[in-house]
Amino acid sequence: MNERPIGVFDSGLGGLTVLQALADLLPTERLIYFGDTARYPYGSKPRDVLRRYSTQIADALLERDVKMIIVACNSASAAALDLLRERHPKVPIIGVVEPGVRAAVRATRSGRVGVIGTRMTADSKIYELTAQQLHAELDLEVVACPGFVELVESGDTDSDHARRIVAAGLAPLRDAAIDTLVLGCTHYPLLARTIKETVGRGVVLVSSADETAFEVRDILGRTGWARGGLAGPGWRRFLTSGDPPTFRRLGRRFLGADLGRVQAWNWELAAETEG
Ligand code: DGL
Repeated sequence: MNERPIGVFDSGLGGLTVLQALADLLPTERLIYFGDTARYPYGSKPRDVLRRYSTQIADALLERDVKMIIVACNSASAAALDLLRERHPKVPIIGVVEPGVRAAVRATRSGRVGVIGTRMTADSKIYELTAQQLHAELDLEVVACPGFVELVESGDTDSDHARRIVAAGLAPLRDAAIDTLVLGCTHYPLLARTIKETVGRGVVLVSSADETAFEVRDILGRTGWARGGLAGPGWRRFLTSGDPPTFRRLGRRFLGADLGRVQAWNWELAAETEG
């Protein structure tokens, strides 16, 4: 048994979709969530910048003695997962792309699968590469959807404005004859209803959140690091480099539960401050 917490990070609120899946599946685990809201969006930034940001956050989480790190962000997974694993070979570090591909394989019948994500994720070709590595027989159509993350971070997920941006982002998939759509950005499940309205009910939406949580459970089982039921319930702690009250307000809306205290993180000090 291992009492230490699990670290989870994203550019902002999106990774809360993964945190939620972890909390549901592994209620006795302690979870520390880091939302780098002050520096979002990640998906339009160059790879070396995301490698630096991801390294800084991993270091901050490891200082809090986490036993595992979940990169709950496709863009950071695409840009920096290899680097983080190289730097911390003894810490299990899980990204969200591989779980997303596995979820798509399970869901599709025709093999025609759309993937929507940030510019970083689409340009990196990480979904195509990962499908190849997993020998997944998928015919992928990967599309960048600028503006979706900003909608989620501003809490605007079903206004006319949001619908227009979503329709424009999904337009390249209109004639792609997909039966499955991977939400290849952890922010996008928060837009799922609007996305579904646009692509139609015949297309199955999959996200990596549940699959990632199952992978974490497997690793905890294999390593014997799970925090057992007798240890009592887990907890969740939240850090944001942005504005804690905003993070708490929007996070509550999206998680459907109060986040409790959200602490501020100051990058100049590289430390927590009173939020
Ligand atoms: N949630 C992130 C992802 O999965 C990043 C979004 C962003 O900050 O651009 O790609």
